[in-house]
Amino acid sequence: MKIVPHLIFVTITLFVISAKKLHAQKAGNEIFKETCSACHTVGKGKLIGPDLANVHNHLTLDYFTKFVKSSQSVIKSGDKYADSIFNAYGKMAMPDHPQLSEEQIKSIYDYLKEASGGGAEEAIPEEELLPGDIERGRALFVGNLRFTNSGASCNSCHNVNIAGLITGGALAKDLTQSVTRLTETGVAGVIKGLPYPQMKETYAMHPITPQEVADLTTFLVYVDEKSAIKTGNYTGNYMLLGGGGGIVFLLSLYSFFWFKRKRQAVNKSVFSRQIKSA
Ligand code: HEC
Ligand code: HEC
Repeated sequence: MKIVPHLIFVTITLFVISAKKLHAQKAGNEIFKETCSACHTVGKGKLIGPDLANVHNHLTLDYFTKFVKSSQSVIKSGDKYADSIFNAYGKMAMPDHPQLSEEQIKSIYDYLKEASGGGAEEAIPEEELLPGDIERGRALFVGNLRFTNSGASCNSCHNVNIAGLITGGALAKDLTQSVTRLTETGVAGVIKGLPYPQMKETYAMHPITPQEVADLTTFLVYVDEKSAIKTGNYTGNYMLLGGGGGIVFLLSLYSFFWFKRKRQAVNKSVFSRQIKSA
C-alpha cells in the first residue's frame, strides 16, 4: 500500500509539468497576438514588418531576443543584417519591448517555430476590412464625430495635411503619408492592433470599432493620395473635400495657431525621448 502516495506524487508532478508546458505555449501565442501581430504575420505575408514564418531558420534565439528587446540597439551596434532589414522596410523602426522577459521572448520564438511548421492552423485569421467612408473617417480623425466608445480624436496626437491646412497635434508622427509608408493594410493594422504604447493607453479601454477602423483607414488612404497630387502624379477628384468647409476651416485655423504655439517644445521633447530610447 506504500505505492499509492508515490503514484499520487508522480501524477501530480506530471500534471504540473504538462500544465506548465501548456501554459508556456499558450503564452507565446498570446503574447504574439497582443504585441506583434499588428505588424507581423506567420505565413500570411508581409505586413508592416516581415512575415515571421520560419524566422528560426535564419535567426538564433539569442539574436532574436536581442532584436525583439531593442532592434535599434542591434542596428546601432553596426550589425549588417539588422541594418539591411531596417533599410528594406523603409527605415520603419520596430518598437522596443523592454517589458518582455527573456522567457517570454523564448515562448514567442517557440510559438513561431511551431506555427511555421504546423502550417496555418495557428495563424491569425485575416479579417476583411469593411468599406469605409472618407467623410466619417475625417470627422472621427479631427473630433467632429464621437467614437462609439468615446476614444480621443486622432488629431490630439497626429497631424494630417489636407488642403494645405494643418489640422492636428505634433505629439506623434504626421500621418499624411502613412499609407505610402505602411500600406493600407498596415495602417488598418496599427489602428486595430495598437502596437504603440501611447495609442494602446488611449484606446485599450475605448476600443475603436471595425467600422471606425475602416473609415479612418479610408480617410488616410484619401489623404495620402491627395498629398501625391501636389507632386503632380495623381489626377483624382480632390474637390470632394470642399464640402463641410466652413467649420473645418475654422477648426483648422484654430489648430494651426495651437500647432504653431506648441510645435517646438513638443517636437523637442519627442525628439529627446527618441534619442534617449535609441
Ligand atoms: C510597429 C510594428 C512592429 C511591431 C509591433 C513588431 N515589429 Fe518586428 N519588425 C517590424 C519591422 C518594420 C521590422 C523590419 C526591421 C526593422 O525595421 O528594424 C521588424 C523585424 C522583425 C524581426 C526580424 C525578421 C527577420 O526576418 O529577420 C523579428 C524577428 C521581429 N520583427 C519580431 C517581432 C516580435 C517578436 C514582435 C512582438 C514582440 C515584433 N516584432 C513587433 C515592425 C514591428
Ligand atoms: C495619445 C496619442 C495618440 C493618439 C490619440 C493616436 N495616436 Fe497614432 N500613434 C501615436 C504614437 C506615439 C505613434 C508611434 C509613432 C510616433 O512616434 O509617432 C503612433 C503611430 C500611428 C500610426 C503609424 C504611423 C507611421 O507611419 O509609422 C498610425 C497609422 C496611427 N498612429 C494612426 C492613428 C489613428 C488613426 C488615431 C485615431 C484613432 C491615432 N493614431 C491616435 C500616438 C497616438
